[in-house]
Amino acid sequence: MPDDSSTRSWNAAADDWVAHADENDYRNFFLLPRMLRMLGNVAGRNILDLGCGEGGYSRELAQRGARVTGVDGSERLIEIARERARAAKLDIEYVCANASALEGLRDESFDVVMAAMSLMDVEDYPAAVREVHRVLVAGGELLMSITHPCFTAPVSHWVRDAAGGLEVFAVDRYFDRAAWEDQITGRFRTPVIRRHRPLEDYVASLLETGFLLRVRIPYFLFMRWQKV
Ligand SMILES: C[S@@+](CC[C@H](N)C(=O)[O-])C[C@H]1O[C@@H](n2cnc3c(N)ncnc32)[C@H](O)[C@@H]1O
Repeated sequence: MPDDSSTRSWNAAADDWVAHADENDYRNFFLLPRMLRMLGNVAGRNILDLGCGEGGYSRELAQRGARVTGVDGSERLIEIARERARAAKLDIEYVCANASALEGLRDESFDVVMAAMSLMDVEDYPAAVREVHRVLVAGGELLMSITHPCFTAPVSHWVRDAAGGLEVFAVDRYFDRAAWEDQITGRFRTPVIRRHRPLEDYVASLLETGFLLRVRIPYFLFMRWQKV
């Protein structure tokens, strides 16, 4: 198994993540449809689903005619993704690898890399960006969604009024880089490693690697970057 703090913690929480992914409204009714709209017509395109989890995005893309490779650092999630693709009779290649070391994936072999809610979790983000750049064809695009860094600092929290209603969201320590263990929801039995990096870190690695920023939408952050 590709072993670092991100892949280890996600592998330990894999089954809880699958249950969460199956029923989470943000994922299924907001994040997934929005990403599919950003991707547009994918028929015939070679797409890498980076941090594919149980493979829900990969299956949607394969059903729309894309040639899909799913990569995840969790062996357990890759096993479930393979089972689910088989059950759906979809031909998807799955590889268990760390996003920051995509050995086995050839240079310039994908038209699109889609990283849906995964790049905020990887331990070595700059290396993952270099790997994305390596496997994209010239002109190829990275489409990524992450939790918005403005709101992910670990000390940030809702401030409630006397009746317990949500009043304001307090943000502090925005420029502190941090990694900590946290349960995604109360239903998770195992924590995962969560990370906070300011937006400038996300953007700097992409610019240094030679990507060109195409689109940005706040709250959840969707970005379109082009290899030039
Ligand atoms: C929040 S989940 C998102 C999964 C999927 N993209 C989705 O939206 O359903 C984050 C995923 O990133 C994967 N991941 C975290 N760190 C990784 C790394 N360094 N290399 C590869 N995958 C990683 C986890 O195993 C997990 O499947």
